Amino acid sequence: MYELLVKKDLDRVIREANDPNVESSQGTLKRHLGAINLTMLGIGAIIGAGIFSLTGTAAANYAGPGIIYSFILGGILCAFAGLCYAEMAAMIPVAGSAYAYSYATMGEFIAWLIGWDLILEYAFGAVTVSIAWSGYLQSIFQKFGIHLTDFALRLFAGPWVDVTLNDGSIARGIWNIPASFVALALASVLYRGIQESAKLNNIIVVIKIAIVITIIVLGLSVIDMNNLNVNPNVTGLGSLVPPAENGRFGWGNGGVLTAAGVVFFAYIGFDAVSTTAQEAKNPKRDMPIGILASLLICTVLYILISIVLTGVVNYKELNVAAPMAVGIDKIVELRNWSPAAGAFLSNAVKIGAISGLTSVILVMMMGQTRIFYAMSKDGLLPWFNNAHPKYGTPHKATILTGLFVAICGGVMPLGLVGELVSIGTLLAFLLVCIGVPILRITNPNVERPFKVPAPWAVGLIGAGFCVWLMSGLPQDTWIRLMLWMEAGLLIYACYGWRHSKMASPQSTERKSINMTLVVFAVVVFIPTIYWAYRTF
Ligand code: ALA
Repeated sequence: MYELLVKKDLDRVIREANDPNVESSQGTLKRHLGAINLTMLGIGAIIGAGIFSLTGTAAANYAGPGIIYSFILGGILCAFAGLCYAEMAAMIPVAGSAYAYSYATMGEFIAWLIGWDLILEYAFGAVTVSIAWSGYLQSIFQKFGIHLTDFALRLFAGPWVDVTLNDGSIARGIWNIPASFVALALASVLYRGIQESAKLNNIIVVIKIAIVITIIVLGLSVIDMNNLNVNPNVTGLGSLVPPAENGRFGWGNGGVLTAAGVVFFAYIGFDAVSTTAQEAKNPKRDMPIGILASLLICTVLYILISIVLTGVVNYKELNVAAPMAVGIDKIVELRNWSPAAGAFLSNAVKIGAISGLTSVILVMMMGQTRIFYAMSKDGLLPWFNNAHPKYGTPHKATILTGLFVAICGGVMPLGLVGELVSIGTLLAFLLVCIGVPILRITNPNVERPFKVPAPWAVGLIGAGFCVWLMSGLPQDTWIRLMLWMEAGLLIYACYGWRHSKMASPQSTERKSINMTLVVFAVVVFIPTIYWAYRTF
């Protein structure tokens, strides 16, 4: 059983990553990405549904203008994880991100679990945002007066989602066609090449940043301080937080913390940069730049946009799916601009939002393909382990990811997947944060082009933040996480264990299914299924 803990030799991993000749004749990923492209990829994955949708509900329900502090808190939390990712990605520049780091630090079993967990972050992240994309598309249709028949309305939602029909009655959706369409379209871009994908991402990122900056610039000078100072009992910065109300969940400092957990989703994605380490021209220098610069830029934009939004509109009016549109309408009103200017800006915001969501799906799917590729190269998954001979992309992993996201996006409800993404991401961040100090002890002499300052403090505080945020997520999300991880355990016991490239040739143990793990997985599965049955 000790083979469960077998670790990859770090020096060898690093050597292989830097020497393309070590790769097999099946083709290798191509090194095309520079620091700017990597930063753009990070921003592409970060700015999306979180800022364009969740900000409003989090402000209206939990934190009021104190959402500004929630964003600062979220930014600090991610900075800890971001620093740890930067050290790992520069030191171990291979596709696979947290999965690859844990293979070298904590052994095969934990690596498998993390790889399996990352599917929650990247593939389900893309699923979540593709469903939100479909919702935005529907609102754009409505905005432009395009009438959708009852049947068409049911093609904007999956079979477990209630849809309001034209006469106000409720019916079940059939299949979320736009969500599936966007996933397949972006998978085809990813199939063609990392350069094409990066180019598309760059265009989208420029559009969405331009829109966000426009709102900030137009809004900053028309802020009404009465909207921000919502607590008359407190002076100074504390007046931004509505007073805690008895019997109500939210407001007060607790509300700010709850909102920090909600807007954490808005930060997810900076780590996707690390999945492309094997395609970076100079990963030692550019990985830390890509991860930390994209995180920094987005944190600053998020803080400014939350000041503007809660400064121009009373936070109670922000409980809507598209708070940015509400913000821009108010800015136009405060500036006494013509309705035509208002309509133009409002449409621009919608286009910014939908393009923002598009790049998130693109980069999340890109991350997922690289994870599948890395796991498959190690023998833990079948079939996806070669790169396309012409395009240099992990094309089979791309097909799988595209189909997976298209099917799940077509049928799943938004609420179910969103929190699963957050908990899965936090688990990955937790292990990366712990991995940094562990590697400082186990491999002190490996070259670290980027070093986390005070690694023990940063790693442990970062890990503590992750545990804290995870503990705030609802019980059903925990149950789903456990079901997912236990399913992963079974798959590893039946397949990965036997096919791992790390299996020593003399190991007879590895030739058969790992029955101990199968039994263990079944034993832990049963109470979780029962718990799920009682809860759902
Ligand atoms: N951070 C990404 C978003 O907000 C996942 O859409």
